[in-house]
Amino acid sequence: MRPGDWPAVEAIYGEGLATGNASFEAEPPKWDAFDGGKRDAGRLVAVDAEGVVVGWIAASAVSTRAVYRGVVEHSVYVAARAQGSGVGRALLGSFLDAMDDAGVWTVQSSIFPENLASLALHERAGFRRVGRRERIALMAYGPWAGQWRDTVLVERRRND
Ligand SMILES: CC(C)(COP(=O)(O)OP(=O)(O)OC[C@H]1O[C@@H](n2cnc3c(N)ncnc32)[C@H](O)[C@@H]1OP(=O)(O)O)[C@@H](O)C(=O)NCCC(=O)NCCS
Repeated sequence: MRPGDWPAVEAIYGEGLATGNASFEAEPPKWDAFDGGKRDAGRLVAVDAEGVVVGWIAASAVSTRAVYRGVVEHSVYVAARAQGSGVGRALLGSFLDAMDDAGVWTVQSSIFPENLASLALHERAGFRRVGRRERIALMAYGPWAGQWRDTVLVERRRND
């Protein structure tokens, strides 16, 4: 992912958020906030045969504590028109290789239980379900405003 990819990344991000089942936010952040919050390693885009960006993946640190320096949380988004054709699987596979190279030992994500595609993608890639966090979030806006939501915490621990 290069800065010039941001308009495409932002559009795909917004499309995913609009489903209401990708993340808590209603809209993508601005580039500066995104850039400041993501680690350099594993920032990837997927492109189609014409070079058009059809998906992206990136990781954030979960903590500033030194003991957690090898623990990250990631986001993965594929354009609706390209879903179901292996783009997410390809992105996640390359991303996990990059995390191994970067010394990351645990990759985690919180997924809404309604997001069956993301749960399937991560289970196929070797993530385990740590558990379901019940009524963890009280939604502030959007179609779920005022309602409690659960998340499923999944993680992939490197074998070493
Ligand atoms: C979740 C998401 C990234 C999956 O990407 P994708 O490119 O559609 O997934 P893939 O085609 O690579 O499929 C990966 C695996 O998940 C399975 N899968 C994909 N969509 C599925 C669905 N709707 N239901 C069940 N399984 C599904 C596939 O069968 C595949 O398994 P396989 O490797 O055994 O064949 C994509 O749906 C997306 O961007 N959604 C909107 C944003 C979002 O929710 N992001 C995740 C936030 S946690």
